[in-house]
Amino acid sequence: MKVVAIVGSIRKDSYNLKLAQYIQDRYKDRFDLEILSLRGLPIYDQDIENEPSEEVKQFKAKVADADAVLWVTPEYNGTIPGVLGNAIDWLSRVDRVMNGKPSWIVGASMGALGTVKAQLHLREILFSLGISSPLLPGNEVYVGSVHEKIDASGNLTHEPTASFLDSVVNNFVAWVGSLSR
Ligand code: FNR
Repeated sequence: MKVVAIVGSIRKDSYNLKLAQYIQDRYKDRFDLEILSLRGLPIYDQDIENEPSEEVKQFKAKVADADAVLWVTPEYNGTIPGVLGNAIDWLSRVDRVMNGKPSWIVGASMGALGTVKAQLHLREILFSLGISSPLLPGNEVYVGSVHEKIDASGNLTHEPTASFLDSVVNNFVAWVGSLSR
């Protein structure tokens, strides 16, 4: 199974990036996870949506080619970061590559609530017309106080979070398999 991770933070020491890398490594026997960076993605512009840059074309092609998308997002000001909204705008137009593509969301923040608000908004967006992505039911992964749970080398040191992720990954893999049957 091929999965792409869309990480809503472009800073180099991002906890969400580290979480995506942890998932990539720990579950490498369950699925191939390619982490897509949003760093080079230009600002969405409707004037060029039919003839976008190479970065946009490649980004959309990788999403189109995947069996599922893993969204790994911080929370900025109580919602999703602008870079993530920008990526969604590209994905929602012209060939609408997210349409029907299964999604799973995880998120980490330094706050106690661990991206609850951002994920609520993202869940709503995934139901919108241009995206129309079935979302893994339940299995909500909110990693709060992430700075106390992931160490400098990117290890997830918080055992309850690690074992919860194990069970969510089982559910995710079974769920994506059930959709493709
Ligand atoms: C934040 N942060 C934050 N945290 C949170 O729990 N709720 C929020 O609304 C916000 N808002 C917010 C806005 C902006 C502009 C920044 C830069 C940060 C803190 C955030 O959780 C923290 O910076 C994380 O480390 C960001 O994720 P990455 O970059 O480490 O993946």
